[in-house]
Amino acid sequence: MVVDGACALLRMDRAAPQQSVPGERRLQAALVPVRSLRPRHRWAVLAHLLGLSPRDRYLRFGYGAQDAQIEAYVSGLDFDRDQIYGVFNRHLHLIAVAHLAYGPQSDAKRGAEFGVSVSPNYRGKGLGAKLFARAQVHAQNHHVSQMFIHALTENAAMLKIARNAGATVQRFGSESDAYLELPSPTLTSRMSEAMDGQIADTDYRLKVQARQFWGLLDRVRTLRQRLRCWHGKASE
Ligand SMILES: CC(C)(COP(=O)(O)OP(=O)(O)OC[C@H]1O[C@@H](n2cnc3c(N)ncnc32)[C@H](O)[C@@H]1OP(=O)(O)O)[C@@H](O)C(=O)NCCC(=O)NCCS
Repeated sequence: MVVDGACALLRMDRAAPQQSVPGERRLQAALVPVRSLRPRHRWAVLAHLLGLSPRDRYLRFGYGAQDAQIEAYVSGLDFDRDQIYGVFNRHLHLIAVAHLAYGPQSDAKRGAEFGVSVSPNYRGKGLGAKLFARAQVHAQNHHVSQMFIHALTENAAMLKIARNAGATVQRFGSESDAYLELPSPTLTSRMSEAMDGQIADTDYRLKVQARQFWGLLDRVRTLRQRLRCWHGKASE
């Protein structure tokens, strides 16, 4: 399964953006591991968001967020209270980030707000929908009764993701709100979340080990070249 996930990402890396056929796209996205991020990933989240174009920042935050505003948002992320999810490519670059922000614990009807961004080269491949599904299961397992998405009405992709999941969309001119009612947790929803988490952690560890291995190989190659040069000079 983990190897399948790596292969799916490799195929995504190679495919031109938004060109896979829908069925294949869904299958590949289903195999891509979504990792729950920790505070040590803060810099990666910042790099991902700063890499978004002004237009994407506008769609993601609802306003043309400047670098300083993104920095403030990222430094304010609470990894204990909220859930931040990410998808890493095989080079361990963060190519998609989702934020599930919880409302106050005391709310009788507890809600959570969802926001997401996918790097342009990886769009149209089902990652946005996959992150939404992962957040949805987490929210359900944490007794959240309603998920909320605020999007610009022009944001067809985000509203499609919400509608496909069964959300009700209310339009207020240029802005739209989507509400998704969530059922109570079930054994299946709990097992599904636990398995997804394990698979993503293992996948990440394998990618880290692969990177360390290739780094080591590079260093050995460099050392060998230096030794050859040194031998050549010594025998002149
Ligand atoms: C919105 C966003 C996260 C979507 O991510 P994505 O990985 O490209 O989305 P998916 O591939 O999962 O596609 C989800 C659905 O939207 C549809 N879709 C994708 N791009 C679309 C587009 N440009 N126009 C219309 N529909 C689109 C897909 O066909 C799919 O529907 P389907 O499963 O019924 O075929 C991504 O475009 C993005 O990062 N945009 C900038 C930031 C942003 O807008 N964030 C959302 C605000 S919170």
